[in-house]
Amino acid sequence: MSNTSLLICVSQCWPGSPGDGPGSLNQQLARQVLQHSGWRGRLLLAMLRWRWSRALFSDLLQCSLPGIMAHYQWRKRHINAWIQQQVEQQGIEQLVIIGAGFDALGAIFSAKYKHLQVVEIDRPCTIAIKQAALHRLNALSPNLCIKGADLACCSVAELLADTAAFSANRPTLVLAEGVLMYITEPAIKTLFQQLCQSVSAPLQLVATQMQLDQQGRPQFAQQRWLADIALAISKERFVSGVVRKDLPNWLAGMGFSLQQLVPAGLPENADPCPGELLFYASALPAKPKPY
Ligand SMILES: C[S@@+](CC[C@H](N)C(=O)[O-])C[C@H]1O[C@@H](n2cnc3c(N)ncnc32)[C@H](O)[C@@H]1O
Repeated sequence: MSNTSLLICVSQCWPGSPGDGPGSLNQQLARQVLQHSGWRGRLLLAMLRWRWSRALFSDLLQCSLPGIMAHYQWRKRHINAWIQQQVEQQGIEQLVIIGAGFDALGAIFSAKYKHLQVVEIDRPCTIAIKQAALHRLNALSPNLCIKGADLACCSVAELLADTAAFSANRPTLVLAEGVLMYITEPAIKTLFQQLCQSVSAPLQLVATQMQLDQQGRPQFAQQRWLADIALAISKERFVSGVVRKDLPNWLAGMGFSLQQLVPAGLPENADPCPGELLFYASALPAKPKPY
């Protein structure tokens, strides 16, 4: 199970985190997941209980990846707003979440919009914990479908074709938040091609991808060696990324056209931990087949 997805749960439960308060599904799900994710989750929950242990944990993050918790909140705020706008104003009827982790967005949106079919995909062990937690919280809506699969070795086209809840004919938005950096470039290309083939209606993409630094390494601008070690130990090293100015071409090579890239440095909306690009794109029209 991904240590990063547990860290994202911690960010949802952090006292004073924006979001929707202690009773929110975000926070309830995060707490449930931490409680049922073995010793790592229970240790993180215990750490959250006391001021001194939170201070210690903050210091540790400050030495390894400063601003990362606020960055998760920053990216989730943007993603929520985009998806809400797409569903309410652009006629999106299906949301496919790749590498959904323990995020509550799929459960929240499926409860709020009954006409929206949500399909979440993540590794089977992550999905098992999440499904049980959502069940305990009575938060499994009929229009929420959760599938366990390893995207590095399975075909998303076959997976979706085998999913009764999925329809190729619904205007669809694919969300890939905090996941593409764990998938190699050729595998991302295959994934995107298969997504395009699987949907015959309009297809949008909201995603994040690491920026490549000057040495060509995918990483956060303020990433320190402690974070490198933590990612290596938990087998979550970033394996792909893109140079900011090349993003339109990178996406075009994957069959998408960039619509919006969130600027990292706006004073009123600065990314607290720059280095992960957050963007919105539309699928390019399919090329006509040669005779
Ligand atoms: C950093 S977490 C992000 C979770 C969630 N999208 C969020 O932002 O809160 C990355 C997620 O991608 C999933 N993931 C990574 N590689 C995957 C693969 N090959 N197949 C399926 N899921 C994968 C992990 O299991 C993990 O839940």
